[in-house]
Amino acid sequence: MQASLGMSTSSSSRSSSSYSSLLFTTLALALLCSQLTIAKEQCHEFVVKEATVTRLCGTRRIMTVNGQFPGPTVEVAEGDALIVRVVNRGSYNVTVHWHGVRQMRTGWSDGPEFVTQCPIRPGNSYTYRFTVAGQEGTLWWHAHSSWLRATVHGALVIRPRAGVPYPFNGGKPPAREIPIILGEWWNMNPIDVVRTATRTGAAPNISDVLTVNGQPGDLYKCSSNGTTTFAVKSGETNLLRFINAALNTELFVSLAGHTMTVVGADASYTKPYATSVLMIAPGQTTDVLVTFDQARGRYYLAARAYASAQAVPFDNTTTTAIFDYGTTTNTTSTSSPAIPTLPAYNDTATATSFTTSLRGLRKAELPTHVDESLFFTVGIGLFNCSSGQTCGGPNNTRFAASINNVSFVLPSTTSILQAHYAGGGAASTPGVFTADFPANPPVQFDYTAQNVSRALWQPVPGTKVYRLKYGAAVQLVLQGTNVLAAENHPIHLHGYDFYILAEGFGNFDAATDVAKFNLDDPPMRNTVGVPVNGWAVIRFIADNPGVWLMHCHLDVHITWGLAMAFLVEDGVGELESLEAPPSDLPVC
Ligand code: C2O
Repeated sequence: MQASLGMSTSSSSRSSSSYSSLLFTTLALALLCSQLTIAKEQCHEFVVKEATVTRLCGTRRIMTVNGQFPGPTVEVAEGDALIVRVVNRGSYNVTVHWHGVRQMRTGWSDGPEFVTQCPIRPGNSYTYRFTVAGQEGTLWWHAHSSWLRATVHGALVIRPRAGVPYPFNGGKPPAREIPIILGEWWNMNPIDVVRTATRTGAAPNISDVLTVNGQPGDLYKCSSNGTTTFAVKSGETNLLRFINAALNTELFVSLAGHTMTVVGADASYTKPYATSVLMIAPGQTTDVLVTFDQARGRYYLAARAYASAQAVPFDNTTTTAIFDYGTTTNTTSTSSPAIPTLPAYNDTATATSFTTSLRGLRKAELPTHVDESLFFTVGIGLFNCSSGQTCGGPNNTRFAASINNVSFVLPSTTSILQAHYAGGGAASTPGVFTADFPANPPVQFDYTAQNVSRALWQPVPGTKVYRLKYGAAVQLVLQGTNVLAAENHPIHLHGYDFYILAEGFGNFDAATDVAKFNLDDPPMRNTVGVPVNGWAVIRFIADNPGVWLMHCHLDVHITWGLAMAFLVEDGVGELESLEAPPSDLPVC
């Protein structure tokens, strides 16, 4: 697998430790990986630096990890500890987020800038230390600073620990496991794209193309030579580990001539679900088994947008890769591969039927009671223009987005977690955040009405957290709004997996919708696509102390403020408390 992708730097997940870079000095390694013989510990070095790549007939400088795009695949076995030293040799501040990793008590290693840490400044470094436990499947890592994640991202593969079988394919390990990272490419520097948007208040430029493992594929100019090709074997069953690393685009994915059987999503197993099309939102992962049992030949994998918003521009291109199990003499390579049919861009019915077909593999361990019943509206909006601002949004406004009408503003002098920790659980560092994030929308209205009154379009900026007691059972209704433009919002919660009990269209109505809750085998995920003009209900136990960002994983929306954070208090004793901050935590 590693060889075929040419992008992995980690050695076998079964070894007690592995080292990603020769740049590391022996001394540094000894210091970093000090318990080699005690725990399964893996050390890696991620050097964030520019690299030159050629895409779409042009040569560009992009930010990478270790010069690779996509970045290195990190492979672990469940239960392993990861130690990743991130060295910033680039020209921007950077952090790395381990998307979906629960980070039990290790919030200092979660990564979102100004939420759990100050960014790593150019020339500096920071070492992330955490254990991957209780999760198996596919997660990923990405920069969590501005829009660097466009090119600074990679797969995190979590296999069962030694001796534990996969719960599918009869327990047999699949013949091959193939990470497939779907991405979004701008010919412009993505940092310049978002900086321009932030300065003008207008919407950022849409991407130029979509990519599979960094390559646009055969349908784009100057791209065929680089098209991602997976050499597979006739008759084999492989595990495809899909990651949607695109910044702003939910994606339909299909493989010509082959059925895909979903067996996991967001590093939680699902009941096997056979389908011809996947819908993966940014942030989400989907593990599928495919048996290559068709006529020998080449087959296109194709992905293009699921664009749920009306009259909002989107990247309408199609990216492809090739699965090749032709003869070794390559006799089939002259005929062009079969291409799959993808749903229409606005095919909400197909997107919904896919996501609602996913079921947890095992019976859910749900709390029997709910301590915190929360109702959050999620949607976009507009800020009226104040003097001295550039207002390139509709009718002299600036684009905004919010949860419960609060448009999230990151601190700039320290992180929320540091401010919280400095307060010893009581008063936090003053002026960094307030703990008054509302449990309900400040105004109740017909959230999904055809014409939401313009008086409700303007959110209030703020750095607010919602405080949770350690161990609280939380139920959260995420209600999409039709303010300005309704859209499917992939809402991602850091530090937790949650059960998705139900989702639907229109306004959530407890009187009728509670009956729809799946309390038996709901899927467990870290990112839920809240249906366009609809709602989703999630449940989790607040058993991980720290400060945990929750946000729309469309970067355009997080840029506009579609985020908030939960502050989960310490419980009793060390094992229910946030660890002390590491000594190399970056300073702002
Ligand atoms: Cu995948 Cu806050 O991110």
